[in-house]
Amino acid sequence: MTSPITIDFAETDLDALAAAEGKLAILVTPDGKLDPAGRRVNRLTKQAVARLVESDRWEKVKSGEGFTMGFPAGLAAKALLVVKLERRPSVEDARKAGASLAKFKGKTPLLVCAGAYNRVADLTLGLALRAYGFDDHKTADKEDAEPATIYCAKPDEARDEAEAAKAVAEGVFFTRDLVNEPANILTTQEFADRLTAMKDLGLKVEVLEEKDLEKLGMGALLGVGQGSDAPSKVVVMEWNGGGEEKPLALIGKGVVFDTGGISLKPAAGMEDMTMDMGGAGVVSGVMRTLALRKAKANVVGLVGLVENMPDARAQRPGDVVTSMKGDTIEVINTDAEGRLVLCDVMWYAQERFEPTGMIDLATLTGAIIIGLGHENAGVFSNSDPLCTAFLKAAGAEGEGAWRLPLAQAYDDLLKSRIADMKNVGGRAAGSITAAQFLGRFVKDETPWIHLDIAGVASVKSDTMLAPKGATGWGVMALDRLVRDEYET
Ligand code: BES
Ligand code: MN
Ligand code: ZN
Repeated sequence: MTSPITIDFAETDLDALAAAEGKLAILVTPDGKLDPAGRRVNRLTKQAVARLVESDRWEKVKSGEGFTMGFPAGLAAKALLVVKLERRPSVEDARKAGASLAKFKGKTPLLVCAGAYNRVADLTLGLALRAYGFDDHKTADKEDAEPATIYCAKPDEARDEAEAAKAVAEGVFFTRDLVNEPANILTTQEFADRLTAMKDLGLKVEVLEEKDLEKLGMGALLGVGQGSDAPSKVVVMEWNGGGEEKPLALIGKGVVFDTGGISLKPAAGMEDMTMDMGGAGVVSGVMRTLALRKAKANVVGLVGLVENMPDARAQRPGDVVTSMKGDTIEVINTDAEGRLVLCDVMWYAQERFEPTGMIDLATLTGAIIIGLGHENAGVFSNSDPLCTAFLKAAGAEGEGAWRLPLAQAYDDLLKSRIADMKNVGGRAAGSITAAQFLGRFVKDETPWIHLDIAGVASVKSDTMLAPKGATGWGVMALDRLVRDEYET
């Protein structure tokens, strides 16, 4: 479960340091400058801190990381962490320091001395995000998460800033929980129910059922889900915080499980396809954050929820389906299903909302992992200004994103003998041809970004701000984009 630990703020109390129970952390500048709390701890430990800072070992500690001393003499604390941090750290270093504190803390109460430091809100965000764990399905006794206390210069200000950071963290946790959840639990129904529950936050939420989707003509999306017992759904979430402007539209691929369909995937690693709703997960998390912080912007989030199963009723390779736009698609490979889902949801979003911009997110291709690994999402766009703004937001939030090209020559690879297009373009440039397919469903006047997040949505090793598994990549970048470009 999310287990966001409670974090509180207080003014530095030097006299409380010796007796502080649990774990204790101090921050020291790279060149070894101690603040008052550092000096007090140094005195209590008979200069252990000074000896560390003067040693070769300190040089090896990276900025935002720390050195642990176990059972330090002179302190009641079980362990002392000495974190290397500038007094005015970068956002990244402050968050990294927070993440180091989370790893050091574990389940134990923690006291952090940050009285002389800036960017306490970012340090707090790093601490909260890295303290996440998904243990809903572990039956062993779950210990209560003990709190963290942060000594800082202006506790009241810090508490207010932390409240804003909390809206971001809760959006990220919501995304991570969805992405980590197995497919027997996170069915299309359960997904829709969790989104419907966000009405409590002031979001407008509407669930379109199969009969509605049939009426709308979403033959591409419905074809993907027709082999599953789980009913296909489209959920529309509206946040209207910004007056009369047309909204920004966020579209998410929500394949709750992708077996590949009749073009069945190999058994090895197929369990990873529980995360194939990652795009829908990010859209949902962003909407949650926007509602929690009452963003002054109009944003609509639409997710296409389907399950891709092989079955007697499943669609076959070679089938031709008709999209809501009216274009026909020859389904060469039933495993290239994400684009079939997205194309109908994207068309619907443009017809209904005439958005000022549209961003789709999808765990769309294995090829993007070959190209960019797990460090960067693939970015494709028909609009330089929108794309530049997004890349800036992603950079500011430390979420890797790398633009790749679109061009007519790639689009030509989608020509079909019998229909308007086929759903795959062959082995070459697989991520780009997938993006070109989506581009055929973008109106000329709609500025659009496609984000292929197959490599970044869920990873097999810890990242700076997340334990292995779902990362929540994109929630912070998109929230920042809304803040910087769409808020009035
Ligand atoms: N969901 C997969 C893409 C994927 C792969 C996501 C690995 C996360 C990790 C997608 O539906 C898919 O199967 N894509 C195919 C497309 C191909 C058939 C053109 C792929 O990448 O192999
Ligand atoms: Mn697939
Ligand atoms: Zn898929």
